[in-house]
Amino acid sequence: MTLMRPYGTSGMTVSLLGFGAGQIGAPELTEAECGALLHGLLDAGVTLVDTARSYGLSEERIGRHLARRRSEFTLSTKVGYGVEGHQDWTRACVAAGVDRALKVLCTDHLDLVHLHSCPLEVLVQGGVIEALEEAKAAGKVRAMAYSGENEALAYALVSGRFDGVQCSLNLCDQRVLENTLPKAREKGLGLIAKRPLANAPWLWPARPVGEYCEVYWERLQAMGLDPQDLDWPELALRFAAFHDGVASCIVGTRRLPHLEANLRILRKGPLPSGQAARLRAAFAAHDTGWEGQV
Ligand SMILES: NC(=O)c1ccc[n+]([C@@H]2O[C@H](COP(=O)([O-])OP(=O)(O)OC[C@H]3O[C@@H](n4cnc5c(N)ncnc54)[C@H](OP(=O)(O)O)[C@@H]3O)[C@@H](O)[C@H]2O)c1
Repeated sequence: MTLMRPYGTSGMTVSLLGFGAGQIGAPELTEAECGALLHGLLDAGVTLVDTARSYGLSEERIGRHLARRRSEFTLSTKVGYGVEGHQDWTRACVAAGVDRALKVLCTDHLDLVHLHSCPLEVLVQGGVIEALEEAKAAGKVRAMAYSGENEALAYALVSGRFDGVQCSLNLCDQRVLENTLPKAREKGLGLIAKRPLANAPWLWPARPVGEYCEVYWERLQAMGLDPQDLDWPELALRFAAFHDGVASCIVGTRRLPHLEANLRILRKGPLPSGQAARLRAAFAAHDTGWEGQV
């Protein structure tokens, strides 16, 4: 049985394990591999698919392979940039970005649309938010959300304009547990935990210079954590998922067996309280300006 959670007070329900569709944007993955992965995840009970304009081939592949199964999943994407003829981070670019996403994803509505790491100064001006509100009023978008970190995330949370947020939440990025999750709960916002495995930094024996997970690798080293009697993916995922108010953890993977393993991991439930407390204490003891990582 798949664990499901409400997406805030939106009325939507999503699977606690979501699919982070960043990896399927890579051209090295063949169409056949991609199709098998996308159909496999729906067959396995994962019902949240999270993509973005910037994830290479991801959006068009979701459209190509899953259009006929559109009613079986909650579709999330991100906009704000990358639309021909429009300046990034303008009201017109967000409006056109929604229309572009509808077309590429072969759908008549998007369930969640995030402003993708929108800078604070743009958010405050309000035009990009109004563009999403109009798209929602027109029935193109069901819920509008902000994806990002730190000051801009804090602004989005209290603005009263969004139905949800997406932010990094993992054993190497824990500040949101104190400064974001309680507010999101209080305001009835859906919260999606991104990078829930911290990009698997344990896979790197030496510093992964220039890799996406470099900062998390440094933090993991600094905390001196070891997984004890669990393996790393299990420790990381059971830690990230089971906080009141987390609607979904969108693990990125290009391998169906990993996705199936992640479903089995979540069925085990939260970490024993001692393990979770150990991870919280290690982060608190070493958090020297450990801000949220985009
Ligand atoms: N809004 C934003 O700005 C933003 C930023 C980053 C991420 N995101 C979203 O969050 C999603 C997830 O983030 P992410 O992919 O960067 O990080 P992640 O989910 O923390 O880690 C992904 C890594 O974990 C590995 N993995 C997954 N399951 C595993 C398992 N059972 N055993 C061993 N390794 C496993 C994957 O490799 P394999 O392919 O080998 O499984 C991949 O290298 C993205 O796809 C995207 O949807 C959003």
